[in-house]
Amino acid sequence: MDNKKRILNIKIITLFPNFIENFVEGFGIVKRAIKLKLLKISSVDLRKFGLGQRQVVDGRPYGGGVGMVLRADVIKKAIELAQKIKNQKPKIKIRTILLTPQGKPFKQIDAVRLAKYDHLVFVCGRYEGFDERVRSFVDEEISIGDYVLMGGELPALVISEAVMRLRPGVLGKDESSVGESFSEAMLEYPQYTKPEILEIKDLKLKNKKIKVPKVLLTGHHKNIEEWRREEALKRTKKRRPELLN
Ligand SMILES: C[S@@+](CC[C@H](N)C(=O)[O-])C[C@H]1O[C@@H](n2cnc3c(N)ncnc32)[C@H](O)[C@@H]1O
Repeated sequence: MDNKKRILNIKIITLFPNFIENFVEGFGIVKRAIKLKLLKISSVDLRKFGLGQRQVVDGRPYGGGVGMVLRADVIKKAIELAQKIKNQKPKIKIRTILLTPQGKPFKQIDAVRLAKYDHLVFVCGRYEGFDERVRSFVDEEISIGDYVLMGGELPALVISEAVMRLRPGVLGKDESSVGESFSEAMLEYPQYTKPEILEIKDLKLKNKKIKVPKVLLTGHHKNIEEWRREEALKRTKKRRPELLN
């Protein structure tokens, strides 16, 4: 992969920088990737670009309506700063993404695509959203699903996590993104660990023994591979048939 050993720089423009800091602090894998210089993730505090003494970042919508809308001029200044990084190399690949429920639905294929960039800038909306003109400052708009959240911070972190785990070296040797759900337009096969026989004492199930499928205990790699492929296919057909198209 051409991005081997290259650092992925993520900057998240937000009114709530704590959100991002807590995420970075909370996860061992993320901290390790930062230490190994595979990843940099930080927030850009939108409030700092606010106007006047009160650092105003929003305004009432023209034409009336409820709630407040983030100002385009304030966001523009934050984007300009977020796009700059220290000692920037000339050929750096940068992508600026606006989080909005009106954006393109996020898929694993987008994570793969975004993992090829060196620098990702996320713009998080809040309140009723942002001034329409913000759309002209970004490269793309992404939604994480057909529901409305209170802000773009969780979507930005969802996308960041899906992207960063695809970068070489970010996952330790015990984790892997190979063969996972969606990596081949299919869901993953069923996984089992100890105990080999699970005894369940449950009124509904009645005392039941649930066994690990025999093939997984044989050590026969070819048969196991085949079984996993068949199970993945069966599962995808049943749960997400549209993926197979
Ligand atoms: C309350 S929402 C505003 C929704 C806006 N009024 C609309 O109907 O499109 C505030 C912000 O949360 C973020 N957001 C909410 N739901 C989202 C989703 N499903 N995907 C991505 N971002 C979302 C966006 O940044 C949005 O600007």
